[in-house]
Amino acid sequence: MKILIIGSGGREHAIIRRLASDTPAPELHAAPGNPGIAQLATCHDAPVTDLDAQVRLAQELQPDLVVIGPEAPLVAGSADRLREAGFTVFGPSAAAAHLEGSKSWAKEIMAAAGVPTAASVTVTAREQLEAGLDRVNPLSDVPYVVKADGLAAGKGVVVTEDRTAAITHAEAVLTAGGSVVLEEFLDGPEVSLFCLSDGSRVVPLAPAQDFKRALDGDEGPNTGGMGAYSPLPWAPKDLADEVLRVVARPTIAEMAARDIPFVGVLYCGLALTSRGLRVIEFNARFGDPETQVVLERLTSPLAPLLLAAARGELAEDAELTWSEDSAVTVVLACAGYPAAVRTGDPITGIDAAEQLGAHVIHAGTATAEGALVSAGGRVLSVVATGTDLEAARTLALSATEAIRLAGSHHRTDIARQGRRRRPGRARGERMSTVRRRTARNERKEMDA
Ligand code: AMP
Ligand code: GLY
Repeated sequence: MKILIIGSGGREHAIIRRLASDTPAPELHAAPGNPGIAQLATCHDAPVTDLDAQVRLAQELQPDLVVIGPEAPLVAGSADRLREAGFTVFGPSAAAAHLEGSKSWAKEIMAAAGVPTAASVTVTAREQLEAGLDRVNPLSDVPYVVKADGLAAGKGVVVTEDRTAAITHAEAVLTAGGSVVLEEFLDGPEVSLFCLSDGSRVVPLAPAQDFKRALDGDEGPNTGGMGAYSPLPWAPKDLADEVLRVVARPTIAEMAARDIPFVGVLYCGLALTSRGLRVIEFNARFGDPETQVVLERLTSPLAPLLLAAARGELAEDAELTWSEDSAVTVVLACAGYPAAVRTGDPITGIDAAEQLGAHVIHAGTATAEGALVSAGGRVLSVVATGTDLEAARTLALSATEAIRLAGSHHRTDIARQGRRRRPGRARGERMSTVRRRTARNERKEMDA
């Protein structure tokens, strides 16, 4: 089987790594790929945003399947263009990817499908801000949650107890011409669950947890994700089934009923709150860096699964098999990430990291004059497995520390045993209600 993967990040490297270990191994092509991907696939010079170039490349290669990794080409209509040209595509149409492209539209779909999510208000003018904040946070006793409505690479969301900071972020989004979604604060730990869909049937993968904040202890700004682990020993055993029943199936059915079938990955970003499961967000693609740990544990072949979804032939009773091992990934970010990204710094020590037993996924790398250099905010994603989370996290961390990149930073508390604090908690949060709710939730998880 010949597969073309569109994208150039860590998620695409992880997908390609997993596809390369299928038996028989498919012939792999990437557009544009990255230096890590180039070790496993043939890379082609077609930028992620150039849909014409993607169609031309597919016409030249004639792949059996095209997999679109990132949200930007999906929202721009890459899947539509490739399907129109006659190709079998894993990835939603632009209309279906709107689930990720517009948080307010996703709320509308969830309301229609009866999917539990945070109460919210969409605001399009400054004058509506104060009343909107009062509506979603009437007692001002929990943090404010302010989101840019459109795509923002993980940086559009501010969770803060400081009302002035909440208003400042909302005003910045409005000034830039966007609308703002104000949300009820959700307590409890977060889970990412990827559900594959062929437009009507749904197959969940294994749950993972992502660490969104830049710094240890869930301090600092939101990022695209600084690390992840799977499985989640503390999560209810039937979590994937519940998400399937309460979230994924109703959403996929609602999309189908609107004649906007969703083919690809419905990424369910969830909070397990003291009042039950809630959707924080939907994405229309695999998550990064969660894919690195989820696919690391998948032991059944990936290519037939993606092909079946793309063809509308997904079997809901497909027997997916998973390694009992734990997988942890630590993201090595460049100097200044996420605020002011500095690129072009040399990277060394990847061999040393891999000799320790980890493997290194490339996210934002490039080659310049034969040397590997940083080319994006999240530069590498170091993945390790072990018989338990502690073994995997210790190895992931020591391997990350074997890599040299001037000014880089990474978290040291990814998957730390016993941690159950919610990753999105606001810096310096002191509200007793949040503490009480979080404590109650943690007790519940321990009991589960
Ligand atoms: P999103 O881009 O919607 O996933 O938001 C990014 C991060 O902000 C999430 O992973 C959470 O950590 C946090 N967050 C988003 N919405 C909420 C909410 N309603 N309550 C609490 N935290 C949230
Ligand atoms: N790790 C979060 C995301 O992929 O959106």
